[in-house]
Amino acid sequence: MREFLNSNKLIFEEYLKEKLLKLQNVPQPIGQAVEYALDGGKRLRPILCVLGADFMGQDFDSIKTLALGVECIHNYSLCHDDLPCMDNDDLRHGKASTHKKFGEGIGVLTGDALLNLAFEFMLEGEHNEKYYKAVAYISKMSGIYGMVGGQCIDICNDEYREKNLDEVIKLNTLKTSCLFKASLVGSSISLGAKAEEIADLEIYCSKLGLIFQIVDDILDITSNAKILGKNINSDIKADKTTYISICGIDKAREDIKLLERDAIEVLQKYGKRADKLIDFAKYLTNRSM
Ligand code: IPE
Ligand code: IPE
Ligand code: MG
Ligand code: MG
Ligand code: MG
Repeated sequence: MREFLNSNKLIFEEYLKEKLLKLQNVPQPIGQAVEYALDGGKRLRPILCVLGADFMGQDFDSIKTLALGVECIHNYSLCHDDLPCMDNDDLRHGKASTHKKFGEGIGVLTGDALLNLAFEFMLEGEHNEKYYKAVAYISKMSGIYGMVGGQCIDICNDEYREKNLDEVIKLNTLKTSCLFKASLVGSSISLGAKAEEIADLEIYCSKLGLIFQIVDDILDITSNAKILGKNINSDIKADKTTYISICGIDKAREDIKLLERDAIEVLQKYGKRADKLIDFAKYLTNRSM
């Protein structure tokens, strides 16, 4: 799996570089800030797009514009997530977060620009109907019914709701699983996935996003900035209600194992087609960075 991840990260980054070179006449410093924000990270969402293509018997080329789109959306969400009005984090991808480097105004605009660029990239050229359905799905999963909705629950404290475990599961599903769905399910839709496949991949992504976010919350307590490329103890400092603040790390680790089992179970019926997706779930369960 590690080799698959590394090689696809490189392929994606080559393509990203090529596309960024084509952006002309952009006022500065927003042009630089966009490139800065897109530089770094694990590229897991583009990799989920490749996994969607692989599940449908295709390769990177068939989903590359969607991979670029979801990575732009992801990095827009990180730019805004780090702002003082949200998580107030100064370090991202092992360097100053975008607003720290360019100032808060440009930090906001970089997020805005990346969101627009995502759709500019995805909607360039002529595509078939399935492809436009996928872009509509990605749009929905990124917005108020998905990632933005989750970020809203994340930053609003108890004046709107009691943040019990169910609410935290909902918050994690929206803020994290939904961009995983945008990537994997979106790519599969663009390549003609059937309703039953879409439903199963959505369940897989729900579980996978929960695993990923709970591990993120654990690493925020147990890891260090050098490994993560972002400061630790961010959640405690911001007094965030997380899976860990409710259940503790031991129970969280047990639940991650159950989520991994569920993620794998829903794909068993696909046999070899789902091998990589199953390996990816195991990889995310055990990740340390
Ligand atoms: C960070 O995601 C935001 C969360 C959903 C926890 P990643 O860990 O995938 O971000 P990169 O790899 O730094 O881009
Ligand atoms: C953010 O979750 C998820 C997003 C949609 C950006 P976190 O706030 O935990 O992400 P990190 O820890 O800052 O990467
Ligand atoms: Mg946050
Ligand atoms: Mg954050
Ligand atoms: Mg975090």
